[in-house]
Amino acid sequence: MSETPLFQVENLHAGIEGEEILKGVNLTINRGEIHALMGPNGSGKSTLAYIVAGHPNYEVFEGRVLFKGENVLELGAEERAQLGMFLAFQYPTTIPGVSMANFLRLAVNSVRGEDDGEGGKKRIAPREFRRMLREKMKMLNIDESFATRYLNEGFSGGEKKRAEILQMAMLEPEFAIMDETDSGLDIDALHTVSEGVNKLYDNNMSMLLITHYQRLLNHIKPQFVHVLMDGRIVRSGGPELAEELEAKGYDWLKEVAGAAS
Ligand SMILES: Nc1ncnc2c1ncn2[C@@H]1O[C@H](COP(=O)(O)OP(=O)(O)OP(=O)(O)O)[C@@H](O)[C@H]1O
Ligand SMILES: [Mg+2]
Repeated sequence: MSETPLFQVENLHAGIEGEEILKGVNLTINRGEIHALMGPNGSGKSTLAYIVAGHPNYEVFEGRVLFKGENVLELGAEERAQLGMFLAFQYPTTIPGVSMANFLRLAVNSVRGEDDGEGGKKRIAPREFRRMLREKMKMLNIDESFATRYLNEGFSGGEKKRAEILQMAMLEPEFAIMDETDSGLDIDALHTVSEGVNKLYDNNMSMLLITHYQRLLNHIKPQFVHVLMDGRIVRSGGPELAEELEAKGYDWLKEVAGAAS
């Protein structure tokens, strides 16, 4: 018996300002899987992440993105999050005067949905929220003082990543896309990301991890690695593919991709 895949991209053609960037992307991620998406600069990796998140600047020309069998391209960003997808870009990077804890409470309530007006409130109770926040911060080795800091105000790159992982832990999504574009990810942030992701993975989160770094994949073990080039996935394989890319670069795949088209 085959189960509906958790996340599926089907023949996705999409781009920006009328220009096609993704030229027929197909990708299936099942429950309990971590997939890495690699590829040269400008190949369309972030474009894919933005489209899945529902960024308004991007256009879809053809194809579907299914989450638990439902075409999310027809849904607003909030509905996508309510279905169990984690969409980082949705959330502003800095909000002056809003503490980490308050921001997280708003985010948790937003994902849980509106009050139904009949007393069956889904909103998280303050005490339950505080308990959960303490538990998740402990799990991720985040200092308690972090909760009272203002969101992203003066956060270092590593602290921003930590905040993102904490947010993911609080929202308990079933699926997340992380775009690891930050070139300045130092060893500390690298450990934060990988430890956090591994713990959330143990808690049943599946994910698509966009990365340039083989070194990140030394800490997070994806079962599948895909290479996006010029808007198409030109090669998929296991973790050994990331090692091959590290050693050989992308040029050899350009020839493969060219020969195939
Ligand atoms: N707002 C925009 N207007 C015009 N072109 C854009 C815009 N955003 C992205 N592009 C183009 O789309 C292509 C794909 O960009 P994208 O950011 O998806 O690449 P990427 O694979 O994430 O690259 P990187 O590894 O550098 O993060 C690039 O050629 C880029 O210049
Ligand atoms: Mg990118």
